[in-house]
Amino acid sequence: MSITAPPGVFDIIPNAAEAWQSSHLWNYVEGIIRELASIYGFHEIRTPIFERVELFSRGVGESTDIVSKEMYTFEDRGGRIMALRPEGTAAVMRAFIEHQLNQKSPLHKLFYIAPMFRYERAQAGRYRQHHQFGVESIGYASPYVDVEAIDLLWSLYKKLGLKNITLHINSLGDTASRAHFREALVDYLSTHRQDLSKDSQNRLIVNPLRILDSKDAKDQEILIAAPKLFDHLDDASRVYFENVCGLLKDCQIPYQISPKLVRGLDYYNGVVFEITSGALGSQNSIGGGGRYDGLLKQVGGPDLPGIGFGSGLERIIQTLLAQETAPPALQPPAIFLIPLGEEAQKTCFKLLNDLRNNSIKAEMDFSQRKLNKVMQYANQIGAKSITVIGENELQKGQIQLKDMATGERVEINLSQIVSFLQNK
Ligand code: HAM
Repeated sequence: MSITAPPGVFDIIPNAAEAWQSSHLWNYVEGIIRELASIYGFHEIRTPIFERVELFSRGVGESTDIVSKEMYTFEDRGGRIMALRPEGTAAVMRAFIEHQLNQKSPLHKLFYIAPMFRYERAQAGRYRQHHQFGVESIGYASPYVDVEAIDLLWSLYKKLGLKNITLHINSLGDTASRAHFREALVDYLSTHRQDLSKDSQNRLIVNPLRILDSKDAKDQEILIAAPKLFDHLDDASRVYFENVCGLLKDCQIPYQISPKLVRGLDYYNGVVFEITSGALGSQNSIGGGGRYDGLLKQVGGPDLPGIGFGSGLERIIQTLLAQETAPPALQPPAIFLIPLGEEAQKTCFKLLNDLRNNSIKAEMDFSQRKLNKVMQYANQIGAKSITVIGENELQKGQIQLKDMATGERVEINLSQIVSFLQNK
């Protein structure tokens, strides 16, 4: 019996049957991400795909779903408990501390494109290995820094041509105001305990703020009259939030204040945000993030503020395809060389090398199958032109170049093929 990929993971291959798994789309999106990250002054960081488990339990929070239910953990041969990285922020904090980056510059703007691992219920848009474009901006707590990050994400989506996307934004306030709100929320929800969904009843004890996110209809009804996070905000957080909203307006980024947006990770405080896509089903968050000012200290580093986001590449590409925002297809070769016989093979191989050294996309037949089969293959890969080179062509030093779209043939000198294609 053949071995298949485990549930919830997928391969990224050329021209995949599931279009969003096609590698050229991933290359295209990653190329634009790298270009934009560089324009915005973010530098790449790569951390290992596994870390000590306590980094995530301490950083992301024991009560979060990611840590309590979804982590892939294993014991290594030295008896240490490791976890496959479920998210990027804690890992970046660990690297930041280990390399004492704070001593090098007051502000660090880092980005990553990396796989994350979560043992979630596999379904459309939710995978056990997914890939995030993430940024972390560490050093200053300023509305300008927050909006710089949001603007980068928004610009990426715009540059990719995504339509029907909504930026939701909220403030969780500082630690004290969040604690007050939590108390008020628990008091209120406890009086409706029996009517809450099972999940929310559990969350009432471990992570009551997450109940605000509940999709359960009855929960939502109960939440209508629940205390509002916004009414419990401390003054500084309120002013900060208003400044962020003002800057978003200045940048012409439309937003929607979503008072129930709390995000699923414990490290957030202050501004949080999420961007949803109307083209996706229930898993409609294409990106989300927020401020996490106490996190670096909590995992053993200096007390520096930070903000960042993560955006799932799978969901970005699925949105692109659903909206038919056609990204460029695979680039076909400019020429396909078909040698007949051993001597011609050697000549073609040298020519192939010349063409490629001159940055011309060229392919050559290595199969030596019947000519009609080879022609079929050249057609299938979309070669723009072909040339068949046999004894005759070698003797005369002349070849015929056939344009596959028009069927037109031109006769040129073998030595002029590179300059001919360059000028085309
Ligand atoms: P997150 O909201 O857990 O945040 O994930 C960020 C994004 O990753 C989501 O909006 C979604 O697009 C994608 N994503 C998450 N889980 C899955 C999954 N199972 N399958 C497919 N896509 C998924 C974080 O991870 C934070 N570290 C983001 C952050 C960085 N906050 C501050 N800095």
